[in-house]
Amino acid sequence: MDVADNEIHLWFSCDRDIQEHTASEKYLRLLDESEKKRHQTFRFDQHKHQYLVTRALIRTVLSMYHPDVAPEQWQFKKNKHGKPFIGNVTSYDTVTFNVSHTDGLIVLAIAKTQEVGVDVEFLNRRGRLLEVADRYFSPSEIEALFSLPEEMQRTRFFDLWTLKEAYIKACGMGLAIPLRHFSYQLDTDTGIDITFDPARDDVAELWQFWSLEYDNLHPVALAVRNEEAGGISDIKYYSVTPLQDTQEIHCNVIRKTGGVL
Ligand SMILES: CC(C)(COP(=O)(O)OP(=O)(O)OC[C@H]1O[C@@H](n2cnc3c(N)ncnc32)[C@H](O)[C@@H]1OP(=O)(O)O)[C@@H](O)C(=O)NCCC(=O)NCCS
Repeated sequence: MDVADNEIHLWFSCDRDIQEHTASEKYLRLLDESEKKRHQTFRFDQHKHQYLVTRALIRTVLSMYHPDVAPEQWQFKKNKHGKPFIGNVTSYDTVTFNVSHTDGLIVLAIAKTQEVGVDVEFLNRRGRLLEVADRYFSPSEIEALFSLPEEMQRTRFFDLWTLKEAYIKACGMGLAIPLRHFSYQLDTDTGIDITFDPARDDVAELWQFWSLEYDNLHPVALAVRNEEAGGISDIKYYSVTPLQDTQEIHCNVIRKTGGVL
């Protein structure tokens, strides 16, 4: 498996479709000691299971790109804000990755060299949208969100949320970036524009964003920072059960930088 310079690969795994006893039998032996320890700390079985499937997904997929490294041989490091990256010392370039999980779905993004951020949310999650928007979104995002007809607000809220998370994850800084320091404009039918506050030293032209729909309950956003000219022109999607089954799938693109789908 190879990911080209102009491609992103998105790998989707539905942890609920994988039986827990199958997972623990096959996947536990792929984990390193620190992952095994963390696996033991989850209080709820569903979180423990998702953690295990996530580790197996990352390790087995990375080995598809580099078959000479077995899934259990991958080592990971984290930057100071917690973003994991490959820690193996190899004589060749590896790939970059980022992962996100929510109720029922795990998504892994793979790029050749670019910094990538991915976020998936569960559309039916409980919580007060208004309060979260007020706390985290920029004034222009809040205004645009609440001027929409009410029946469109929930979807737009999650489009903004996932896009904001995807950006801070691609930067690798998590919530160390104040979420009000950048704003998305989603006013056109298919486009995604971003503007940065002077406090956030960044350039819109370096970035590409996508809003995707895995199914009608799971909005996904992807952010890629392109240091080289050219950018990403192709995204491939795969559904995977680690160590068992992989198939290429289709995913709906709802919006993207530059629009026109
Ligand atoms: C930790 C954070 C990076 C993502 O958290 P999240 O959206 O709850 O979780 P996700 O499932 O999307 O991502 C978690 C994964 O991101 C990766 N990650 C952790 N820190 C990261 C960082 N600084 N940058 C990029 N990726 C990071 C990890 O692989 C982690 O999974 P793992 O612990 O199983 O390895 C951070 O953005 C955060 O805490 N967000 C809080 C959510 C929120 O309130 N958002 C406001 C709404 S707009």
